[in-house]
Amino acid sequence: LDNGLAQRPPMGWMSWQRFRCLIDCNLYPDDCISDTLFRQMADRMSEDGYLEAGYEYLIIDDCWLAMERDEQGKLQPDPFRFPYGMKNLSDYVHSKGLKFGMYEDIGTRTCAGYPGIQGYLEIDANTFAEWDVDYIKIDGCNAEQSEYEQGYTDFGMFLNNTGRPIVYSCSWPAYLETGGTPANYPYLAKICNLWRNWADIQDSYNSMTTIADWFAKNQDRFITSAGPGNWNDPDMLLIGNFGLSTEQEKSQMALWAIMAAPLLMSVDFRTIDQQSKDILLNKDVIAINQDELGLQGRRFKRRDEDVDIWIREIAPIVNGEYSHAVAFQSRREDGAPRAMQIFLSEIGLNNPFGYFVTDLFEPTNFKRVVNRTEEVLVRVKPSGVVFLKLVPQAN
Ligand code: DGJ
Repeated sequence: LDNGLAQRPPMGWMSWQRFRCLIDCNLYPDDCISDTLFRQMADRMSEDGYLEAGYEYLIIDDCWLAMERDEQGKLQPDPFRFPYGMKNLSDYVHSKGLKFGMYEDIGTRTCAGYPGIQGYLEIDANTFAEWDVDYIKIDGCNAEQSEYEQGYTDFGMFLNNTGRPIVYSCSWPAYLETGGTPANYPYLAKICNLWRNWADIQDSYNSMTTIADWFAKNQDRFITSAGPGNWNDPDMLLIGNFGLSTEQEKSQMALWAIMAAPLLMSVDFRTIDQQSKDILLNKDVIAINQDELGLQGRRFKRRDEDVDIWIREIAPIVNGEYSHAVAFQSRREDGAPRAMQIFLSEIGLNNPFGYFVTDLFEPTNFKRVVNRTEEVLVRVKPSGVVFLKLVPQAN
C-alpha cells in the first residue's frame, strides 16, 4: 500500500501469541488483557533495548473490547480492564516513544466474539484515528468470503480519509489460503501494508516449521508482491516463550529475516531470559530483515542431509552483484551437529574475487574472505541454523 508507511517490515510486539484471550484478571492478574499489561509492556519495550533495536509498534490483539458498542454505535473497550479508555492508553504508549497498534475484525464479530466492524467501517476508522492509532490489524472471522474484497478495500479507504498515517494489516488472505483459495497478492499489495498469508502460529517448533514449509512451497506466488510498503506476514515470533529451544529460536529469527517478515514479538518482557532476548536483539540479523532493498528471500533447496538452504538478496550491490543472506536450517533430530561441505557455486555465487563471509549468530566462526573454489564447512545443530552474510569482493 502506497501510503508512505512500512517501508521496511514492521517491527513491534503483539499480545496474541503469548497472552491470547486471558480476560479473567482475578485468575490471571499479571497476564490478563488489560491497561496494566500494556503499560508494563510499553515500559519494558522502551527501557530494555527493544525500541532501540527497532521494535516500535505495541499492538493490542483481540479481547480488548466491551461486548457491545456504546449508545452512539462507537467501539468501546472493556470498562473494567481498560478503565481509562483507549486514548489515555495510546497517550501513555506514545509517551514512551512507541507507536500504538490495535486489532479489529472485518466481520460481524471478532474471532473471540467481540463486536466487529462490519456495517461501521467509517465510524470505526474515525474512532481509531481519534485514539491516535498507528497500526491496525483487521482479522477475518465471521465474514463471508465474498464480502472480503469490498470490506478490506473500503476500510482502507476510510483509514486513508482520516488523514492519519495508519499501517494497515489485513488477515484476509490467511482465510482464503487455509480454505484452499489462492489470494490475489498484487491486489493486496495495493490496499494493505502487510497481510497474513497462512494459519496462526502456535507455540511449537512444529507449528513454526509448518509455516516455513508452506511459505517455501508457495513462495513463487507471493514473493514478488513484497517490497517497501507491502509485506507477507508468516505471523508472530515465538522467541522467549515456552515452545522453542534456543537453537529453534535462532532458526525462527533467521527464517523470518530471509522472508522479510514483520518482526512481531509476543513475549512477556518481564520474565524473558537473556538468551532469547539476545536473539531478538541481534543487530546483524535484524539488519538482514530490514534490508533496504526489501527483496523477500526464498527456500533455495533442501539438501540430502535434510538441511534447508534459504537465500535472500540484500544490499550492498557490488559490481552489479547482490550481497546475500544464506540460512542453513536443519530439520535433523539426530543429535550431533552435522558437518556439510558447500561450494559457494552450489548456491549460485561465482564471484572470481570471492565473498566476505560473516556468521551472524557466531561471529567467531566466520569473518573472512571465502574464495569461490573453497569448500566451506557448515556445522548445523539439530533443528538449528547457521546464518551467513556474504558480500561480493570487488577485487
Ligand atoms: C486469528 C488471528 O489470526 C490471530 O492472529 C489472532 O488475532 C486471533 N484471531 C484473535 O482472535
